[in-house]
Amino acid sequence: MQNVPRILAVVGSLREQSLNRQLAVLAGQALGSRAVFEVLDYRDIPLFDQDEELPAPAAVARVRRQVLEADALWFFSPEYNHFFPGVLKNLVDWLSRSPAPDEPPVLAGKPAALSGISPGQGATLQAQDHLVTLLSFLDVRLMNVPRLAIPHAADQMTDGKLVLQDSAPYLQRQADAFLAFIAR
Ligand code: FNR
Repeated sequence: MQNVPRILAVVGSLREQSLNRQLAVLAGQALGSRAVFEVLDYRDIPLFDQDEELPAPAAVARVRRQVLEADALWFFSPEYNHFFPGVLKNLVDWLSRSPAPDEPPVLAGKPAALSGISPGQGATLQAQDHLVTLLSFLDVRLMNVPRLAIPHAADQMTDGKLVLQDSAPYLQRQADAFLAFIAR
């Protein structure tokens, strides 16, 4: 486990049975022993308030430390109203700010991949495009190809659980490509 990258999954949905959370778990399995993979828990961070920015709330400091210690981020986001959810924007707003006046923001230069799954045919593509705009502005090193956008989630489920029938090879291909991208 020493020389494998640490990949932190950032899921844009807080709900327990989230399709995107389940997709993140499957991505961790696709990476296998080639990475240390963890899903970020950020449900306890507050809404961003510039009056409360310094010193950062404890939950924000913890999340920033986890991002800093990660070699790469893998985003798994649903689409809400043709955008990515507000909870994810709130997280990124916190991450975009320097932890202290003499320290750089934790996102700059960080390799990142984007994936998403939706029940409809939109497949989270519009949300991903907005996320690309946001993360590019913050100087995140994005892997634009391949991205993964899975439509019609019901076709990929068995007994209410996401198992990824047809889409499994695409997730595997993205996992392989991301490892190569991180190493570059
Ligand atoms: C949605 N959903 C949705 N789906 C989509 O493909 N395009 C969209 O614009 C929207 N908009 C939207 C807004 C809001 C407020 C909600 C709650 C939902 C449906 C969404 O894709 C679905 O609920 C997913 O299952 C959410 O992702 P998780 O939580 O399963 O990861």
